[in-house]
Amino acid sequence: MVGINVEGSPLPKYLKMLTPLCAISATLLNAQTLPAQDANKLKIGFSIEAMKGERWQTDLDSFTARAKLSGAEVISSDANGDDDLQFQQVRDMIHAGVKVLVLLPHDTNKAGRMVDAAKAANIKVISYDRLALNSDIDLYLSFDRVEIGRMQAEYLVQRAPKGNYVLIAGSPNDEGAEALHDEQMKVLRPSIDRGDIKVIADFYTKEWQPTEAYLHMLQAIESAHGDIAAVLVSNDGMATGVIQALREHNLAGKVLVSGQDADLANIICVAQGTQAMTVYKPVPIEAAMAAEQAVHLAKGEQTDADRTISNGQKTVPAILLKPVLVTKENIKATVVKDGFQTLKDINQGLSKDQQIN
Ligand code: BGC
Repeated sequence: MVGINVEGSPLPKYLKMLTPLCAISATLLNAQTLPAQDANKLKIGFSIEAMKGERWQTDLDSFTARAKLSGAEVISSDANGDDDLQFQQVRDMIHAGVKVLVLLPHDTNKAGRMVDAAKAANIKVISYDRLALNSDIDLYLSFDRVEIGRMQAEYLVQRAPKGNYVLIAGSPNDEGAEALHDEQMKVLRPSIDRGDIKVIADFYTKEWQPTEAYLHMLQAIESAHGDIAAVLVSNDGMATGVIQALREHNLAGKVLVSGQDADLANIICVAQGTQAMTVYKPVPIEAAMAAEQAVHLAKGEQTDADRTISNGQKTVPAILLKPVLVTKENIKATVVKDGFQTLKDINQGLSKDQQIN
């Protein structure tokens, strides 16, 4: 088997957040630390495209915890951004007897062969966070990308209604990156048509890489001679690279920067004013829901899908969770309140006069 893990992950960091959703009892919590050995146990596969980036460990921990509460065993894998490896890992999961595959695809265009392999073995497939295109998936579970793109663009346009804009979109192999980008452009369109906003650079960024985003930003700063009002950055990892480039040109805090994920480093930047906003996605809830839906599917029950989305091949039942806008003003009332980030960790990155009380 190629790098797949059967459970064994530590107790989840965000159990507190799951409590209202899943009503965890103390007894169950103790039970979940026992290794799974029951051959008849329901097995769920969780295939993750790559564990890099702050959020994915949280996804896996919360997913595993929720699955265990339902008496299921999780077989997870990390494909390290390699399509062929992810395909191989999925095949290994199929051989290991998973009843449901929860798939976070590396390349949303190439996910079809993994879905086909699972379906051929009568395994249900949940497309997790990223939409597996042109494939026979049973459920799509994510946050509402359209709303995320809109939140990012509307917030920046409100604060910088005029001037030069740069767009730093995510990976070209993630259709979600395009969905965000298109919604951002939709929001900018009227201001562009009026001549208030000019998009001076528009990049997609390989693998959502911060270093690539940094290089894109250096290029944009150079070509605009630093005359930039705002940078629509699609996620926090890339925002870190963008802020670094701005800092090197003495522009950090002067140019508005957006983000997504509410990563710790970026919440600190939001508090400091070098990043204008981020989008908080309560990932523990997304992951716990995925585990719940997987159990429903395994038992032949209805999922909680309340809408549909087209993936090119079919109309897919979908669950789209609500993202939350985070600015300097509501850090405490959002990510801190939920236990997603702690005040202690945030304050450790802030100077004395910047502390949040
Ligand atoms: C996720 C984002 C994440 C990005 C890079 C996207 O599919 O929705 O939350 O920042 O991948 O890992």
